[in-house]
Amino acid sequence: MSYLEKEKEQEKSYTRVDWQGGYKSQSQEFSYWIDDIEGKIPQELHGTLFRNGPGLLDINGESVQHPFDGDGMISQISFINGKAHFRNRFVYTEGYVAEKKAGKFLYRGVFGTQKSGGWLANAFNVKIKNIANTNVIYWGGKLLALWEAADPYRLDPKNLETLGKEHFNGKLSSGEAFSAHPRLDPSCVKDGGKPCLVNFAIKPNGLSTTITIFELNTNGEIVLKHAHSIPGFAFIHDFAITENYCIFFQNPVSFNPIPFALGLKGAGQCVKFQQGKPTRILVIPRNPENREIKVFETTAGFIFHHSNAYEEGGSIVVDSICYESLPEIEPGSDFREVDFEALKPGQLWRFNINLESKKVEKRQIEDRCCEFPRVHPDNVGRPYRYLYMGVTHAATGNAPLQAFEKLDVETGEKQIWSAAPKGFASEPVFVPRPGSKNEDDGWLLALVYDAAYERSYIVILDGKNLNLGPIAKLHLKHHIPYGLHGNFTPEVFI
Ligand code: CO
Repeated sequence: MSYLEKEKEQEKSYTRVDWQGGYKSQSQEFSYWIDDIEGKIPQELHGTLFRNGPGLLDINGESVQHPFDGDGMISQISFINGKAHFRNRFVYTEGYVAEKKAGKFLYRGVFGTQKSGGWLANAFNVKIKNIANTNVIYWGGKLLALWEAADPYRLDPKNLETLGKEHFNGKLSSGEAFSAHPRLDPSCVKDGGKPCLVNFAIKPNGLSTTITIFELNTNGEIVLKHAHSIPGFAFIHDFAITENYCIFFQNPVSFNPIPFALGLKGAGQCVKFQQGKPTRILVIPRNPENREIKVFETTAGFIFHHSNAYEEGGSIVVDSICYESLPEIEPGSDFREVDFEALKPGQLWRFNINLESKKVEKRQIEDRCCEFPRVHPDNVGRPYRYLYMGVTHAATGNAPLQAFEKLDVETGEKQIWSAAPKGFASEPVFVPRPGSKNEDDGWLLALVYDAAYERSYIVILDGKNLNLGPIAKLHLKHHIPYGLHGNFTPEVFI
């Protein structure tokens, strides 16, 4: 490293070596009461936080091409009477079990991980592995590990044992997609105000794409399923709901299947962002009797995640994290060597979609690089004021997430707690205090990778004031690799 490079490195809030530590595999499974605690766990904090993410990033030293290809591992943190219990376990998918036995990659990953054996072993092999690594949610008595391209795996919420694939009494076919981004509607119009789970699936069919919408009741049954065909290819990871609509952003991307078929690239590496082309916003009624899809155009770059959406007069408001383009993953590149400075930050935008005039207005509401937005569960699909998310330590540029932000979307006021220089952030989950009335009365829970000890901790922050710093840090005996999404349930499972 030159003197100049060293200087630059010192200005940063992190070092690459520290950040890389969070991408080491965690092949062990643990179960213990957490005893290394700074601060105090609130007595009223009662329930279970489930998290999902890639646990295995290599097999016998052979690395995945991208962390999205890593096998799903669930972490369970149970809070009861001021104590906390930790457990982690892999999702025992067919692929995970077979590869563990073989000691090598037997499948190709969507994001470029190749079967052991090189180009010839991969050509014309389009069998992909359901890795169940993106989200985990407890709903209707079922704990489901989700991955957007295939059916969910059901787990035992007590001990995280894999029970098998969930097909909801045949309402979902074997291998049928069920996305990793369900939204919980706190008060469903069709179900007398009971909560429901709304999810979707994306299926590309050459020149068109089928979007399927599912609604599940409180017994965890699919009570509504309707499919819609839209023109063009769509790569849609997340959606947003309001009381009456599902909203999808079809960002301008194209798909070239040839390098995938030839075994040169993973399917996800064949998706190309089409700079300058508009994004189509698709507004699909949740009432299946109304088949009219409203289509709007705007420019939005590429979106992985939406924060929330709601209806207001004749408009729909959607808040989303937008990137100028979709970063391409080159074959053979090492994700651990990514040049953050060369990447544009994800920034929060508000879209106002006028259903009558068809006009879309947009404005940026946060320019600090951010990801993993979450809101109070009662405000999903409703007007809301507070947004929680992972952000970078520095106010500008792209970097690993190291801090958590609470944004007041009404006033623009923000609070930030940073775990830098040694801490690396993940998706924060907001948990309301039991009986609370105010939207920010509760706790923010998140896993932080602590490079100082090469372990992880769970941070508990005060939802009313992040500036106060952690209420507690619960230090684990080991690290948990950087994860993706998870959810809290007030039920305690140990
Ligand atoms: Co996601």
